[in-house]
Amino acid sequence: MLEKIAVYPGTFDPVTLGHLDIVERAIPIFDRVIVAVAKDTGGKPTLFSIEERIQMLKDVTMNYPKTEVHGFSGLLITYVKEVNACTILRGLRAISDFEHEFQMASINKRLNSSVETLFMMTNESYFFLSSSSVKEIAALGCNLKGFVPELVEKQIKKKLF
Ligand code: COA
Repeated sequence: MLEKIAVYPGTFDPVTLGHLDIVERAIPIFDRVIVAVAKDTGGKPTLFSIEERIQMLKDVTMNYPKTEVHGFSGLLITYVKEVNACTILRGLRAISDFEHEFQMASINKRLNSSVETLFMMTNESYFFLSSSSVKEIAALGCNLKGFVPELVEKQIKKKLF
């Protein structure tokens, strides 16, 4: 039987509890979940380097079964085939995510029709959450409890202050 491998791609600048919620819910569904951290962010500036984003994800998923964290560059669909994955996993937060996600899923389907994109509704506790809002809240001196793991909060504060 072929292994069912999901790739969960993103910029993860930084990883939030919303992202981790998606990974945790994917674990029972797949044989392996690969969290794929994008090196090329399409011009979007990042607070953390690719190495830092990968390391934070490795630290916070250390005790997760069947989960790996890797960086990737270039086209997502090429990476997905390289690792023999059958599914691209994405979290959907609000209706505003839909158009962008629909476009990405359609392009990826056109590039390789054997790969499916699977959307998971983000847990309602994280519906409002984004990496940008986390960085903004931190820059204004508020605590990030309930938004990001403690380790990530420390890394953000170290970067900003
Ligand atoms: N909980 C909390 N936040 C979430 C979330 C969740 N479940 N899901 C997404 N987000 C947030 C992210 O934190 C991020 O916030 P920010 O914009 O404030 O930084 C935002 O939603 C966007 O998510 P991100 O995961 O960074 O996705 P993206 O839309 O920037 O796409 C890739 C990233 C890597 C999937 C995409 O750029 C890609 O595929 N790149 C490779 C090149 C390629 O193949 N291009 C063609 C694609 S069609």
